[in-house]
Amino acid sequence: MTETVLVVGGGGREHAIARSLADDCTLYACASNRNPGIRALADGFAVVEETDAEEVVAYATDVDADLAVIGPESALAAGVADALDDAGVYAFGPREAEARLETDKAYQRRFMEEANVPGCPDFAVFEDTEEACAYIDAYDGDLAVKPAGLTGGKGVKVIGDQVTPEEAKAYLREEGYDRVVLEERLVGEEFTIQAFVANGEFRTTPAVQDHKRAYEGDEGPNTGGMGSYTDTGLSLPFMDDGDYEAAVDVLDAVVEGLPEYKGVLYGQFMLTDEGPKVVEFNARFGDPEAMNTLPVLETPFIDVLTAARDAEPLPELSFSGDATVCKYAVPEGYPVDPDSGARIAVDEESVGDALLFYASVDERDDGLYTTTSRAFAVVGRGSSIPAAEEQAEAGLAAAGDRVRIRHDIGKPSLVQRRIAHMNELRGE
Ligand code: AMP
Ligand code: GLY
Repeated sequence: MTETVLVVGGGGREHAIARSLADDCTLYACASNRNPGIRALADGFAVVEETDAEEVVAYATDVDADLAVIGPESALAAGVADALDDAGVYAFGPREAEARLETDKAYQRRFMEEANVPGCPDFAVFEDTEEACAYIDAYDGDLAVKPAGLTGGKGVKVIGDQVTPEEAKAYLREEGYDRVVLEERLVGEEFTIQAFVANGEFRTTPAVQDHKRAYEGDEGPNTGGMGSYTDTGLSLPFMDDGDYEAAVDVLDAVVEGLPEYKGVLYGQFMLTDEGPKVVEFNARFGDPEAMNTLPVLETPFIDVLTAARDAEPLPELSFSGDATVCKYAVPEGYPVDPDSGARIAVDEESVGDALLFYASVDERDDGLYTTTSRAFAVVGRGSSIPAAEEQAEAGLAAAGDRVRIRHDIGKPSLVQRRIAHMNELRGE
């Protein structure tokens, strides 16, 4: 039977989801922007706010969807998965209650503590700004300052890295967040593992390293992610034997503690000199990380979705064994003052063997326009990280001149720096 699947969201992540499903189902998509890549793959596309549960359900019902995959966290926070489930469309994405793992960082840390999930840093939650400031003054060591709610990955300030204690306090006083989490600053190298979860079971995918900082050499403000890479196996070059498994043990404890959880569970880890610690959990695929993971997934993604819905054992996953390097092209000025509404040209022909994923662009009658977020990404694949990086760079000939790219992502010198950093922390 051919399933009818609705993809919710219009970014690079959702383009990758759509690409992984298009050949195996009848595909529909809805998003607030007209993503040309998704529109080309889908049998139908509607412009709908991802957070408008009623409209999403109306479209899902209209196209007779059996299943839905929800891309963005904003939709999960708005209860879109609950609404679809209640309308009889199985949503591969957690209900609002379980999505709090991502949408409420205070809940996330308390859950870790209560469920004995390993890798939780020391933390404290504050509702009063002055109490939080006093804690910063009294704390022996550096802290990460995190608004408890969603900030698109851009609200966290790390003392000793991005800000001084005085700047952190000024930031809290200026923003006046309702609740903030203050936690021990973790030092090391970050990596992500995404797992497919349903019915108390999970399957993991290769570790990915994203690059949050806007500029080359890890300089500048945090972004949603400028690009990412995977290696040929499950692990990354700076990880030791056992690090991947230790992170999987963390995901295992989360799934055990949240038996109703379904969808993608994204673990963001800091590999410290004591092993992996949890930076955060997300309740969905990463963006860009989905663009690394799904192109190397050989098991049909539709089989994961139907097994989840039908409460059957999730399939064992197989991967192509290619390394991948993903680089985003973003509007000039992103993330602080993005040049939105700029008309850009993408020459699809010159992408070559690399994969092109459109992201937060809007396709209008007279061309393609930037929004305030990342515009498109190119993914190279190869038998090694350098081979994948070269393919990504060749593909970026399509980029044009109104966008900015971190060319250093996946280059041997940057990967080597990660390895040297971990060796230094481990005293090797
Ligand atoms: P989050 O929104 O929790 O992903 O945080 C955004 C970024 O802030 C992370 O990717 C890390 O680079 C950094 N960060 C968050 N928590 C910590 C922490 N406890 N120690 C060091 N860096 C952190
Ligand atoms: N790349 C980080 C995220 O999707 O949250």
